[in-house]
Amino acid sequence: MCGIVGYVGDKKTIPLIIEGLKKLEYRGYDSAGLALIEEGKIKVYKKKGFLKELESTLPSSNSFGLGIGHTRWATHGRPSDENAHPHLDCRGEIAIVHNGIIENYLFLKEDLEKRGHAFKSQTDTEVIVHLIEENYQGRLLEALQKTVKKLKGSFALAVISSREPDKLVVARQDSPLVIGLGASEKLIASDIPALLKHTREVLILENGEMAELKKDEARIYTFEGKEIQKSVFRVNWEAEAAEKGGFEDFMMKEMHEQPQAVRETYRGRVGEDGTVWLDESNLQPEEIQLLERVVLVACGSSSYASLAGALMIEAWAKLPANVEISSEFRYREPLLSKHSLVIAVTQSGETADTLASLRQAKTNGAKVIAVTNVVGSSASREADGVIYTHAGPEICVLATKTLTSQITALAILALYLGQVRGVLSCDETLKIYREIEKIPKKIEQVLSEKEKIKDLAEKFYRYQNFLFLGRGAGLSVALEGALKLKEVSYIHAEGYPAGEMKHGPIALIDENTPVVAVATQGEVYEKVLGNIEEVKARDGIVIAVVNPGDEEVSRVADYLIEVPSTLELLSPLVSVIPLQLFAYYIAKKRGLNVDQPRNLAKSVTVE
Ligand code: G6P
Repeated sequence: MCGIVGYVGDKKTIPLIIEGLKKLEYRGYDSAGLALIEEGKIKVYKKKGFLKELESTLPSSNSFGLGIGHTRWATHGRPSDENAHPHLDCRGEIAIVHNGIIENYLFLKEDLEKRGHAFKSQTDTEVIVHLIEENYQGRLLEALQKTVKKLKGSFALAVISSREPDKLVVARQDSPLVIGLGASEKLIASDIPALLKHTREVLILENGEMAELKKDEARIYTFEGKEIQKSVFRVNWEAEAAEKGGFEDFMMKEMHEQPQAVRETYRGRVGEDGTVWLDESNLQPEEIQLLERVVLVACGSSSYASLAGALMIEAWAKLPANVEISSEFRYREPLLSKHSLVIAVTQSGETADTLASLRQAKTNGAKVIAVTNVVGSSASREADGVIYTHAGPEICVLATKTLTSQITALAILALYLGQVRGVLSCDETLKIYREIEKIPKKIEQVLSEKEKIKDLAEKFYRYQNFLFLGRGAGLSVALEGALKLKEVSYIHAEGYPAGEMKHGPIALIDENTPVVAVATQGEVYEKVLGNIEEVKARDGIVIAVVNPGDEEVSRVADYLIEVPSTLELLSPLVSVIPLQLFAYYIAKKRGLNVDQPRNLAKSVTVE
C-alpha cells in the first residue's frame, strides 16, 4: 500500500511532490520521503512519521524539474528514517520509490551482497535499485526493463537518475500507477486525485507495462520492450470532491455524503416500470437463469456489506449466496463452475487478496463481477463485468460511504438477478425499489440527530471493551459497528451473532462491557430481545438500536438509538449510520486522528 508520486516538468518540484503525497497519505503514513536532482546530483529527504515531519526538514531552496516522492505503510522493515523511501544505489546516482512487495528479495539481496552491494535498509525495495545499478548501461528504461524481469511480487515503481535528469521512468505489476499528461509536464501517482490539480488527461498503466516520461513526451512499453499506444482517459469528476468541504475531518464529511452516495448508486438503474438495468455487469440473461450459486469475496467492511448483500440475493433472487473472506478463499479449491457467480466487493478495487480471489474464481471457470468505487481499478478491469458504486473518492481510511454504496449496489444487483430469473415481477421489484429510494432521507434523519450519539459517546468513551450483537440483517451492522469502533478508537470491540453469545461471549458480560444490540423490527426481533434479556440478567449495560414505536426492547435496554424503519433487508443501510457516528465521537473524545488511525491503510495491496 504506500503512495508514490513523480514529476518531470518545469515547476518547483518540492511543493508539487508534497502536495501529491498529501492526497495519497491515506495509503500509508508511517514515513515519507522524496528525491530530487540538485546541482546535477540526487538529493534525498526522508523521515519517519507523518508527512508533516518530512515537511519540517525540507530546505527552503528549491529545485525545478524532476522528483519522486513516497508515503509509506511498512511491510518489510519497521517505520524508520532508513527504511523510508526513496532508496539509492551504491553510487547515489539512481533513486527509487516503490509500492508493493518483492517476494524474492532475500534471494536477490544475498546475491547482490556477494557482488559487493551494501544495503542501508531492511526493505525489499532496496534490492531493486541495486539491480538497476547493475543493469545500467546508459539508459534507465532498459536497466529497469532488465530488472523487472527478475522481480517476483507486486510493484509500482518510479525511478530517476542523475545521469538522465530529464526522465522519469516507471513500471507497474499488480500495484496501481497512473500517468498525468500535462502541457510540458508529466506526473505519476498511485491514484488519480493526486494528479487532478495539474491535469485531467490520464494514462492508466496496466500490469506488465512501463513508461519513459519526459516533460514533452510519454512513451509506454511492455516489459519486453515493445512500444505500445494507450488511449487517454479523461477524468470528469471534481478535485474539490476530495476536499473536506467545511467538515472537521474526512470521516465526518464522508458520513454526511452517504445520502448522496446511496442515491447516485441506485440512480438510473431501475426504470419507471420496475425494469432493472445492469448491462455493465455483463451478465447474459441465459447465464443468470442457469446460475446455481453466488459467492461474494471481500475483506474488511466490504465483507460486511457483502453479508447484507448475500441476504438480499438469497431472498430476492432465490440463489444460494455466501460470503467468503478473500484472504481465505484465495487459498482454497472452491467448487465453482460456469454456473457460479463470484462477486468481488472492494471499494478500492486494489485489495490484493480480493484480486487474487477474483483470479482464482476465473481460473475455476466462474463468472466474475466486481463491485467497486474506483473507475479503472484492477478489479474493474479484470472482472467480466463491473457495477460501480458512485460514492466519489473516500479519503478517510475508514469505509463509511463506500460501505453503504456497496450495500445499495448489491441490492440493485439482487433485484436484477431476481427479475431475470423470474422470481420478482416488475411490480414487486418496483415496490422494493421505492423503499430503496427512501433510504437517503432516512440516513439524513439519523445524521441530523448526531448530537444524541455524541452525548452517548461522551458517556461511554472510557470503556475498554464492547460487544456488538445482531442477527439476520442486523448481524452485518453489529460486525461493522464493532469494526468501526476498534479501527478508529482502539477500543476492543467484538461483533457477534446475537444467538451465538451464549456459546462464549456471554462470559464477558458485566458492568464494564457495554453491549450494543441491533434490535430493529423484523423476523428476529423477538430473538434479539431474548438476547438482550440475557445480557441484562448479568448486569450488562445495553445500548439498543431500535425503530420508532419500539416497546419491548425499549423497556429493557439502558440506552436507545432510534433509526427510521425500512424493509428488514435494507435496514443495515440505516442502522449502521449511528454506529459509525458512535465510533467517530468516541475517537474524537479520546483525542484521536479519525482519518488516519494507526496501523491501518485505505488500500491494502499486500497479502
Ligand atoms: C482496508 C480498509 C477498510 C476496507 C478493507 C477492504 O482494511 O481500511 O476500510 O474495508 O481494506 O478494502 P476494499 O478496498 O477491498 O473494500
